[in-house]
Amino acid sequence: MTSQAYLSELFSLDGRVAVVTGGSSGIGRAIAGALARAGASVVIVARKEAQLAATVGELTAEGCRAAWVSGDLSTRDGVRTAAEEAAGVFGEPDILVNCAGVNLRPPMGELGEEVWDTTMAVNLEAPYLLGQRFGPGMAERGFGRIIHITSQQAHRAFVQSGAYGVSKGALESLARSQAEAWSPHGVTCNTLVPGFVMTPLNERLSSDAEKVAALAARTLVGRNGLAEDFAGAAVFLAGRASAYVTGQSIFVDGGFSVH
Ligand SMILES: NC(=O)c1ccc[n+]([C@@H]2O[C@H](COP(=O)([O-])OP(=O)(O)OC[C@H]3O[C@@H](n4cnc5c(N)ncnc54)[C@H](OP(=O)(O)O)[C@@H]3O)[C@@H](O)[C@H]2O)c1
Repeated sequence: MTSQAYLSELFSLDGRVAVVTGGSSGIGRAIAGALARAGASVVIVARKEAQLAATVGELTAEGCRAAWVSGDLSTRDGVRTAAEEAAGVFGEPDILVNCAGVNLRPPMGELGEEVWDTTMAVNLEAPYLLGQRFGPGMAERGFGRIIHITSQQAHRAFVQSGAYGVSKGALESLARSQAEAWSPHGVTCNTLVPGFVMTPLNERLSSDAEKVAALAARTLVGRNGLAEDFAGAAVFLAGRASAYVTGQSIFVDGGFSVH
């Protein structure tokens, strides 16, 4: 067997269909690109059409199979509509990546119901509803991969964790519940846990050079994360090689969390 054939057996996503929420920006964009370059047909879901089209344009120009669906994941109806549209493009997905997220972090005493509701809707309910829509079909077909993107705040209070931390902690619990239900049927459910990654999500913090340097110094690798750092872990969790990895939280954080 050639090394190419061996690597394909472990990691190729040829013939797989993936849905990536938040696939038009930051970490989600890098993950969508990685899955598509590894062979999957990828549908990305977010709201802003220009960014969706630009991301898909970049991938199709490289010869990848990719498409986009514009949808608002902050309402249950929005999630349901987006899910049906996404499944209508290349068929029912084998891989679901829940990366869309909002990062609204007022001080705890000022945390109102609106921020709470939006945070729970996008960060937790949308992944739950998409899991309910696609998980049973994956289990029936005997193969599936569900990947959630959580946060340090799922594990510790840190820089006004507020509702954001609650939503991410619950998302890791959701991954374990899904793993319990569907792993016996070939569907693994895991989370990737970023540290501090320079993306539009944390523009305010990433424009503060002193804070950025202080965060980089807290890692073991000595720098903050880049969206591209998630490519390899996502391909691994999406493919055959990770069949015996389920219910896990995998930190892609340069060692931020271990000291
Ligand atoms: N960057 C970090 O340091 C960091 C750290 C820990 C965890 N994370 C997590 O990683 C994930 C990705 O973050 P990122 O930093 O890559 O952020 P980003 O660049 O801001 O991307 C967020 C994505 O989510 C989409 N989105 C937001 N609200 C949506 C809604 N209501 N409906 C549909 N799509 C929506 C956005 O597209 P539209 O605006 O067009 O809808 C965009 O594609 C998030 O879950 C975040 O919590 C990030």
